[in-house]
Amino acid sequence: MDGNGRWAKQRFLPRAMGHQRGGEAVRRLIRGVKDMGLEALTLYAFSSENWRRSAEEISDLMSLMKRFILNDLDEIAAHGVRIRIIGDYKAFAPDVVALLDNAIEKTANNRVMTLAVALNYGSQQEIARAATAAAAKGEITPESIEAELYTSDLPPLDLLIRTSGEVRLSNFLLWQAAYAEMWFTDVLWPDFTPEHLKEAMAAFGQRERRFGGR
Ligand code: IPE
Ligand code: MG
Repeated sequence: MDGNGRWAKQRFLPRAMGHQRGGEAVRRLIRGVKDMGLEALTLYAFSSENWRRSAEEISDLMSLMKRFILNDLDEIAAHGVRIRIIGDYKAFAPDVVALLDNAIEKTANNRVMTLAVALNYGSQQEIARAATAAAAKGEITPESIEAELYTSDLPPLDLLIRTSGEVRLSNFLLWQAAYAEMWFTDVLWPDFTPEHLKEAMAAFGQRERRFGGR
């Protein structure tokens, strides 16, 4: 979900405002996708590299996340959305961890859609962790590693969207993206709407996927 800072900068607003509007875009998207028949949606909210940001910005992001859970969890839960967290979120402050654990627990039996949120997530760290776990149990194979990834209970990644004009993966779902279709857009995250997602899905529907076959 990239481009919050640039969105704010273009308007001579503080970065925190960009993050706040980014939060609104998340809310709008979750409301918009619940009837679209998506099995799972994963949002990259905080990377393991985002700790390099200023203490003030990190604290803004954490308060935003807390407020989001407090305000929106009931609505999300009522729509049958199951919340999953991927990443080492236990490294967050205890109050944030408690809110996240509650959100996971409260929605665990929901089946309409899975909303996975990547928090303190880094794909290389995920793969190293999964390989270590796989090795501890036996042979290291693509399957044994895959079974230990945070995403092991999520469907295969079909479509990966990157906003704000960047054309790189930035340590997101590297393993899972092996055969994913990519969609890059210049739209800054705060401006991203369910219509943009529909546009990306329509393009996805036109692509011919061969998975290495012909
Ligand atoms: C993404 O927006 C938000 C998070 C990383 C949480 P950025 O803050 O990276 O926005 P830009 O890249 O400065 O525009
Ligand atoms: Mg950025």
